[in-house]
Amino acid sequence: MSTSTWPGERATRRRKGAARALACAAAMLPVAIALPMAGCRGDRSDNPPRQFFPDMDDQPRWKAQDRSEFFADGRTMRQPPQGAVAFGRSPVVSDEPWASTYTLQRAQLLKADDRVYRGVDERGALLTTIPVEVTPALLDRGQNRFDIYCAACHGIKGDGKGLVGQSWAYPLPSFHDDRFQPGGESGAEGHIFDVALNGFVGPTGRQLMPGYGHALTEHDAWAVVAYIRALQRAHRAGIQDLPESERTQLQGAPQPAPAAEGGS
Ligand code: HEC
Repeated sequence: MSTSTWPGERATRRRKGAARALACAAAMLPVAIALPMAGCRGDRSDNPPRQFFPDMDDQPRWKAQDRSEFFADGRTMRQPPQGAVAFGRSPVVSDEPWASTYTLQRAQLLKADDRVYRGVDERGALLTTIPVEVTPALLDRGQNRFDIYCAACHGIKGDGKGLVGQSWAYPLPSFHDDRFQPGGESGAEGHIFDVALNGFVGPTGRQLMPGYGHALTEHDAWAVVAYIRALQRAHRAGIQDLPESERTQLQGAPQPAPAAEGGS
């Protein structure tokens, strides 16, 4: 075979050589990337990790309850300045109706109103009124909370004959007894409010009923009080409490046919 080459052949060989080098480099590239990574894996080092884009990953901070070298009192958790008043999580202060959510949140945080939040008046006496506006919405809420949290024992009608109430060690009192009526010895609105939230301790000091403060807000508790009042009112209502038109309609109405016995 002749060793002489013609210029075209040399160029082809050069091109082939370059292509081979490129392929080789491409094959090595993953290895070149993987090597340093494999090298880092599992190795222990006291050096801080290399971060090409730290993205604020590391920032100075203190753990709650930690000792602080910075503050003179040695606490990392700062105390509110003296005389600070809890204010709420929103800076909005307005009497406008649209801000009512914030106003309510703030009132619930401050709990400054003894009547609404503790059920007592300025002299510490139990309230004998409901200190929030009683609306149909409040009664609905009260029914909803009562049926969920109270009815199991006290019964849907408040007569003490709920499923749990029936198997209680002794018969539970009925809210329709005289002593729970307005003006009755255990009938003060502030008392029922307090029992709903904090439970009831009997004369011997035993806790007879658990409190439902974990489940009811103060407004819920007033809603429940209002609903118990509605149950009591309904229980003692007679036909004379109906408006004239409904009374005559009821009295004139045909009696319902007796339900069919047995069968399916
Ligand atoms: C697990 C059962 C149970 C549930 C649920 C329950 N109670 Fe009671 N409640 C009792 C018992 C027991 C007594 C004490 C009865 C007694 O010995 O006089 C009581 C007593 C009361 C009394 C009377 C306190 C007094 O002065 O004698 C009120 C008012 C009352 N409960 C309200 C509520 C309200 C409101 C709820 C719902 C938020 C509720 N209870 C949920 C068991 C329950």
